[in-house]
Order: sequence, then structure tokens, then C-alpha cells
Amino acid sequence: MTRRKLVAGNWKMNGSRAALSELSAIADAAAGHAGVDVAVAVPATLIAPAAEAVPALSIGAEDVHAADQGAHTGCVSAAMVKEAGARFSIVGHSERRADQGERDADVKAKAEALHRHGLHAIVCVGETLDEREAGRAEAVVTAQVAGSLPQGASGEWCAIAYEPVWAIGTGRTPTADDVATMHGAIRAKLTAMVGAEAAEIRILYGGSVTPDNARELLHVADVDGALVGGASLTAAKFVPIIAAAD
Ligand code: 13P
Repeated sequence: MTRRKLVAGNWKMNGSRAALSELSAIADAAAGHAGVDVAVAVPATLIAPAAEAVPALSIGAEDVHAADQGAHTGCVSAAMVKEAGARFSIVGHSERRADQGERDADVKAKAEALHRHGLHAIVCVGETLDEREAGRAEAVVTAQVAGSLPQGASGEWCAIAYEPVWAIGTGRTPTADDVATMHGAIRAKLTAMVGAEAAEIRILYGGSVTPDNARELLHVADVDGALVGGASLTAAKFVPIIAAAD
């Protein structure tokens, strides 16, 4: 098994040029944890200044359009974020699935657009609280994987992020056992879809990851890293999570 841990930040609609100093501090600390891949997805307006200010850090987008160009007011394409300096993008985050009505087929097409342009993709999946309480979490999440996984997915350029919607920004997390069960189910679905390549695809956990719970969550079976929201906004909180992955 060759999977290196990946700790990725997601700044969501937060941050400004004044916050780029946090990225410099994160990059400096990441250099001391050579066994861990570190990346931060930032708002579209910050991709270029971040990539220029902190060339050592993998900077990404939080979303891209599936098309390369065209009449899509307000959207940015994979080619555009690449030109700005992004090396990857998150796609299918639950906030976009909920706020923008994105479906699995949209998410798949976005991930395929990233691959066409040589960028990496972090494909998000996760159940709502209602779905978990109805005992449908595994069925919902594995169906999302089946519908959202891009054609030709490989560990070289594609990762999955399991983010239970009810754990995002709430301070609540699933138990380590629940995370292990879900990541195992995702791995099994990937194996059914892409065979042996499934062993190379990283599966990140996301949802209220903090310096306090990172060590436990990051060392659960089949957890290959974390996708971190609030705690990625400052080096003071993000760096201990990187250290916990090492
Ligand atoms: P929090 O870490 O703030 O819960 O956000 C998780 C998330 O949505 C990352 O994409």
C-alpha cells in the first residue's frame, strides 16, 4: 500500500490577502512533515496571490465548472484555475450540492474537467443527519461514489473526501468505528468500480476535524487524510493537524 496521507484545507468563503501569511506559516511547518502531503483550497480570488506568495504549497480551487469555457456567468473553469496557479480543486462539496443543487453527474463531469487539464480532484460525498438516522448512510454515500467518480479515476489524481453533512462546522464527529465502517464501504465500492486501482485512491475524512481529534481520526483504518474547514484558516490550528497525520 503506497498511500501517503493528505491533509487538505478548505477555506470556503473566508480569507483575504491579509490571510496569506497564514499560508506561509502552514507551508513552513509542512516542510517539516515530509511524510504528509499538504494542500489548501482557497476562494477563486485568492488562488493567484496564494500560488505566487507560497509556491511550495499546493493551492487549489473549491469548485470548477465542467466546461472549459462558455456562457456561464460567474463560473470559472479548470483551465482558468490552473492558469491562476491551482494544482487541484474540490468538487461536489455538500455545501454546493445543497446550495447550488449539484448532482452526482455534475460532480463527475467537474472531476473529469480537472483531469483533462492535468489537475487533481477531491470528490466529496457524505450523508445528511436524516439519512444517517434512517439507517441509509452507507447506501447514500456509496451511491454518491458510484455517481460522482470520474472516468478513469486513479490515485494519481483523484481522492475521495467523506464528509458527513451533520459533522461539518458543528463540532460533532462520527465515532472512529463509524468512520472505519464508512471508509471501508467506500473502499469496497471503489474496488468494485476500478479494481486494484482502488487501493491507490486516498479517502479523506472531513467534518469538524480539530487539533484535538485529528490524531484519532487520521489513524482509523482506510483514513488517508483529512479535509479541514474551520481549523485550516490559521496555522495555529492547521499545523497540529498536519503533525497528527505524520
Ligand atoms: P469543518 O472542518 O469546518 O467542519 O468543515 C469541513 C468541511 O466542510 C471541509 O470541506
